[in-house]
Formats: sequence, structure tokens, C-alpha cells
Amino acid sequence: MPAPSSRGSRLDTLVREIRDALRIPAEGRSEQPGRQVSDVLAAHLRHDDLLTDEQLAADQAAYRQHVLHIEPDGTFSVVALVWLPGQHTPIHDHVCWCVIGIYRGAEEEIRYQLVDEDGSPHLVPADVTANHTGTVTYLSPPGDIHEVRSATDGLTVSLHVYGADVGRLGTSIRRCYDLPVRPPHAALGAVQRPARP
Ligand SMILES: [Fe+2]
Repeated sequence: MPAPSSRGSRLDTLVREIRDALRIPAEGRSEQPGRQVSDVLAAHLRHDDLLTDEQLAADQAAYRQHVLHIEPDGTFSVVALVWLPGQHTPIHDHVCWCVIGIYRGAEEEIRYQLVDEDGSPHLVPADVTANHTGTVTYLSPPGDIHEVRSATDGLTVSLHVYGADVGRLGTSIRRCYDLPVRPPHAALGAVQRPARP
């Protein structure tokens, strides 16, 4: 159930540019699938006319997903996630590559490693990143287990481009991980935090 944008809108332009970027062959580079979408998305994040008020609407109960576009052949989808303060995802991974751009506010992303060396599977935090308005991140399975949470006192909105048909799947989430979280092993060191200037 794609929600098509109005003809000629900035969102239409973004979708067209994503489509074109995905058609460009990698020409022998070892570029990860969908990675070329990052620059396309970044160019639109600081424009206030990208989303309508309806597409920015939040939900008091949980972070909200607005499906903005589903490519007819199912090769990619564009989704907005809207967060109120304190809202967060479960710990999860994905069925496909994803490019994430912050449109409003800020998100904190915690990446995890799944450890099952002693028959008691658990998660270990591996990295914490604060992503602010205008920044773009990329993830690609496997090894993409993470949790995302709002990191501001106001509205946070992120744009997600998925390499899959989210309309058919309902979500890009492959699996949620309801496992114990243990501190990093000494060999891994402490959780890394973004460098401070
Ligand atoms: Fe995710």
C-alpha cells in the first residue's frame, strides 16, 4: 500500500534519483548494494518541503512508520520513521540493505554482536553512534543487529531507503532479539562512543 507523493514534489525527485542511482553499475568496484543511494538521500535532508505534515505525524504509543514509496518492481522502498522523546525500536536486524538519513532531530544507534560461544546466546554492545540532522548511515546484513532510539527532547524523523518491498513484507525487520545484553568482553574494550571535538 504505497502512499504516492504528489506529482513533481521533492519526494518524487528523491525517488527518481534513487531509481537512477540503483541503475548505475558498480563498474568493478566492491561497493555494497544500495550504498550509492547515500549521496542522493543526503542532498534532500535539509529541505523542509520533503515531507508533508501528515508524513511527519507521530504516535504517542510508539515510533511510527510512514510508507512513502514502494518501487513497482519491489527493488526498493522509502519509509519515514517518526519518533517522540523516549521511543525506540526493539533490538533487531534486517532482510536487506538500508540507507538511513536524519531529517529532523537526532537518533542514537546501538550496534550489537551476537555471541553464542558457550551455548548461552547473548548480545554485546559493539558501537554507539549519535546521528544528527543531515547525517546518513548505511547498514547491510549480516551483522546488522541494532537498536535505534530518539536522542532529542523533540520530534525526530528519519528517512529510510530499503532494498526490498516493504509493502509486501510489512517491515524491513528480519528478526527481533529478546536476548540478554552483557557488557563487552575485556578483549573488545568498552563501548565505543563518538569522538568528541
Ligand atoms: Fe533497523
